[in-house]
Amino acid sequence: MEDLSLHILDIMENSIDAQARSIEVHIDVDPSGDLLTLEILDDGKGMSADMVRRATNPFFTTRKTRRFGLGLSLLSESAKATGGELNVESVPGKGTLVTAIFHRKHIDMKPLGDIPETLLTLIAGHPEIDLSYCYTIGRERFSFSTREYRDLPVSSPRVLRRIGEHIRKGVAKLEESVTD
Ligand SMILES: Nc1ncnc2c1ncn2[C@@H]1O[C@H](COP(=O)(O)OP(=O)(O)OP(=O)(O)O)[C@@H](O)[C@H]1O
Ligand SMILES: [Mg+2]
Repeated sequence: MEDLSLHILDIMENSIDAQARSIEVHIDVDPSGDLLTLEILDDGKGMSADMVRRATNPFFTTRKTRRFGLGLSLLSESAKATGGELNVESVPGKGTLVTAIFHRKHIDMKPLGDIPETLLTLIAGHPEIDLSYCYTIGRERFSFSTREYRDLPVSSPRVLRRIGEHIRKGVAKLEESVTD
């Protein structure tokens, strides 16, 4: 996987597969600039403790179409490559929280990639999902939720373009406001 945005899309697909109605994506860069925490929270069907233990194994999947499941194991590898880690917490019937911690100045840290585009892909494909995104760098924050567009057809090209512009501007402004 070349960048984090592709991992995020993968993990959000897990939430969709788990019949989530709401997905929250949080990216948090700590004030020292060393740690980047990625959290993906859903209200899908969740996993038993035993499933959680096996979920990051590439040979564990509940899919019927293949015998391996790579989404979580690849994200775990990417986090570990930077000296970080992956953690999965889940409550059956309630939802799942996937947390990946990265040392972002490590040589093997992947770029964030085009997160606005990734979010738009999810919104276009699953307009029924409440998606929110919160990006924090130190004390500055940008956040967005499809709930802000509740009365509009979010998967229509015009609204998607508007949402895309809104997220891109917000993210650019946030990234400009901090110097590394
Ligand atoms: N958010 C989630 N809610 C409920 N179950 C999950 C969630 N994420 C993962 N799982 C369970 O963990 C398994 C492994 O997930 P993983 O993303 O690693 O592989 P996959 O989704 O099965 O296949 P792939 O990601 O390669 O398409 C899934 O098959 C599913 O049973
Ligand atoms: Mg998956």
